Amino acid sequence: MKILGIETSCDETAASVVEDGVKILSNVVVSQIDIFAEYGGVIPEVAARSHLEAMMPVINKALLDASCDWDDIDAIAVTHAPGLLGSLLIGTLTARTLAILHDKPLYAVHHLKSHVYANWLPETSLARSSSDTLKGARPSLRSSENLTRLVPQFPLLALVISGGHTQILHMPGHNQFEIIGTTHDDAVGECFDKVAKILGLPYPGGPAIAKAAEGGNANRYKLPHPKVTGLDFSFSGLKTAVLRAVQKEVGVPISYPSHKLKELLSEQQICDFAASFQKTAVEILVEKLEAALKEFPDTKSVVVAGGVSANKALREALPEAYFPAPDLSGDNGAMVAAASYYEIQSGVKPTDPYKLNIYPRISVEN
Ligand code: KG4
Ligand code: ZN
Repeated sequence: MKILGIETSCDETAASVVEDGVKILSNVVVSQIDIFAEYGGVIPEVAARSHLEAMMPVINKALLDASCDWDDIDAIAVTHAPGLLGSLLIGTLTARTLAILHDKPLYAVHHLKSHVYANWLPETSLARSSSDTLKGARPSLRSSENLTRLVPQFPLLALVISGGHTQILHMPGHNQFEIIGTTHDDAVGECFDKVAKILGLPYPGGPAIAKAAEGGNANRYKLPHPKVTGLDFSFSGLKTAVLRAVQKEVGVPISYPSHKLKELLSEQQICDFAASFQKTAVEILVEKLEAALKEFPDTKSVVVAGGVSANKALREALPEAYFPAPDLSGDNGAMVAAASYYEIQSGVKPTDPYKLNIYPRISVEN
C-alpha cells in the first residue's frame, strides 16, 4: 500500500511516498528556516504563504522521486492537527482537493502521532552503548541479529519533544495514546529557541545551541531543575534562570533588555552557557523518563520523537531508547504516511474530503 503523506503544520512544506508503512520511496522537505532566521522566529502568515508556493512542487517532486503517478497512490494522509492555523489549512485543503480529484481515500493524522511513528521507519537508529541509562527498557531486542528490522515493542513510552510540545505518552499498542506527563508552560524546543535568542544564536535555536555547546564547558554555570511533581515538565523557569545567570555574569541589572545581552558576552561565555543549558535540559528530560519507567515497569521500549530528538547530547544520554534517523526527527511527510498506515491497520476509516477540518490545538488523546 503506497501512501502519500503531506505535512505543513509549521514551517516545513513536506511530502513523501511510503510503501506499507516502512519503505520510503521519496521524502521531500522544503524548509522555511532561511526566511525565519532573519526574523528570529516563525511568522504564521509568512509561513502559510510559503506553503502555498511550495506545496504543489513538493508533492510533484515526491511523486517523481518515487517513480509514481496518481494511479500508484493508494491513499493520501495529511496533518490536520495541531499546528499553525494557516499552515494546516494549506496542507489539508490541498490534500482534500487531490483526494477528490484523484478519487483517493483521505486520512487525517495528528502531528505528534506522526513524530512517534518516525521511529518505525527503517533508518531508525538503534544507539548501542555501554551506558546503564534506561537499561532493561527493551531487553528482548538486544540479541536480535537483524538490527535494521527491529521496531519498538509495546507497551512503550514515547518522549515527544518539539517546538510546541513536551509530553510523555504511554502506548499500550498501535494507535493508542495516553498522556502521562506534559509541560505546564514552555515546550523544551521553545526553551532552546528562547535561550538561543538570549545568547544571540540564530533560529532555530536547537541546532545552534547544540553546535555552540560542543565548544563549551557544561559545568561552568549551575542551572536549577524545576520543582514539578509527577511526570510533568516546566521549562519557562529554566529559560529565566539562563537570563538571570547571563545578566549576573555580565554585571547588568535584571531590567537590562535581553536582546542586548549578546553584545556583552564573549564567544566562550556563549558556548559555556549553551553547554550548561543543554546539559540541564537533557538531565530534566532523562529524569522524568526514568520516573515514568518506574511507574510503568512493563515498558518494553522507549521512543523519542519530535525536532528536539535530533539532539546528540540527548541521544548519548539515552542509549537504550529509539530515535528517528536524524533527518526524520524534524517535520517530514514520511512520518505522516507511516502513522497513517498504522492507523489504517488499527481500523481507522478514511475521512470525508468535503468535511476534513483542522484543529490547531487538539490533544493526541482525541
Ligand atoms: O518537531 P519540530 O521540527 O517542529 C514542531 O513540531 O515544533 O521541532 C522543532 C524544534 C525547534 O524548537 C528546534 O529548535 C528543535 O526542534 N530542535 C532541536 C534540535 N534540532 C531541532 N533542539 C535541540 N537540539 C537539536 N539538535
Ligand atoms: Zn513537529
